[in-house]
Amino acid sequence: MNPKHASPELFDGQAGLFERRAGLPETVCRAIVKKVVEIGEAKSGDLIVEIGSGTGQIGQWFEAPVRYAGFDLSAGMLKECSRRLDLVQADANTSWPLADGVARVIFSSRAVHLLQQEHVAHEVFRVSVSTGATLTLGRVEREPESVRARMAKEMNERLRLHGFAGRRGERQNRKLFELCRDRGAVDLEPVAVAQWRSLASPRQSLDSWRGLAGLGGIAVPAATRAEILRELESWAEAEFGGLDQEFESEETYVLKSLRVPKNLSDSEQ
Ligand SMILES: C[S@@+](CC[C@H](N)C(=O)[O-])C[C@H]1O[C@@H](n2cnc3c(N)ncnc32)[C@H](O)[C@@H]1O
Repeated sequence: MNPKHASPELFDGQAGLFERRAGLPETVCRAIVKKVVEIGEAKSGDLIVEIGSGTGQIGQWFEAPVRYAGFDLSAGMLKECSRRLDLVQADANTSWPLADGVARVIFSSRAVHLLQQEHVAHEVFRVSVSTGATLTLGRVEREPESVRARMAKEMNERLRLHGFAGRRGERQNRKLFELCRDRGAVDLEPVAVAQWRSLASPRQSLDSWRGLAGLGGIAVPAATRAEILRELESWAEAEFGGLDQEFESEETYVLKSLRVPKNLSDSEQ
């Protein structure tokens, strides 16, 4: 693996934990898959490609007549995949392991914000079929007052105070969409696929960040990372009255999509 291209935020260290911490209910995963196929107007034999497929918790529900292929950088995440899926290990910041013009749908859930957006836009257009394709990004939206949202906001603020600009998910997804629009892609209506209530404690956020190599989607020196996590711990203790208090909030899984029009794929330009 070329370290120049690797994402700083590797998931190997927390692969086993990932589904327990951030796993989505099976009903939600199935609903996401159904919508991705519907939005992408995928027909029999069409290829759906997933970027940063992780453990395959969503990808496992894509079934014939569509075809599915996913890839992820983390061998640890791929090893956790319990079903036989077409998953390969590859770095999405380098050339994707796909030929030009093969994908009807390019799907990614909670992963694209970790990548280099200009490169992703280029690859989306390169692998899109020339008859028109769809890029669909999924993410969990949280109430701004939820523990997870407040912890993430504070973590990004602390990163900024220490001189680092974290990659906030929504901002990165917006940037990718802008780059694709510049090349002629067109917005589709966002779709809220599922809504559920979840319990979260400040410690869960801290523990999940401790399991990552970076912080906020970027490389941060170990000493700075430890310092930020210490600061966050004190802040959370005061703010939430302890680290183990659990609070309930609503989460929504949202799909945002763009149509890559006919003949605009890179192979056609
Ligand atoms: C938050 S997880 C999301 C997993 C899954 N898509 C989901 O929604 O459950 C982010 C995933 O992106 C993968 N990832 C991060 N950087 C990557 C890269 N440069 N190339 C491919 N995958 C990457 C991680 O290994 C991890 O599996």
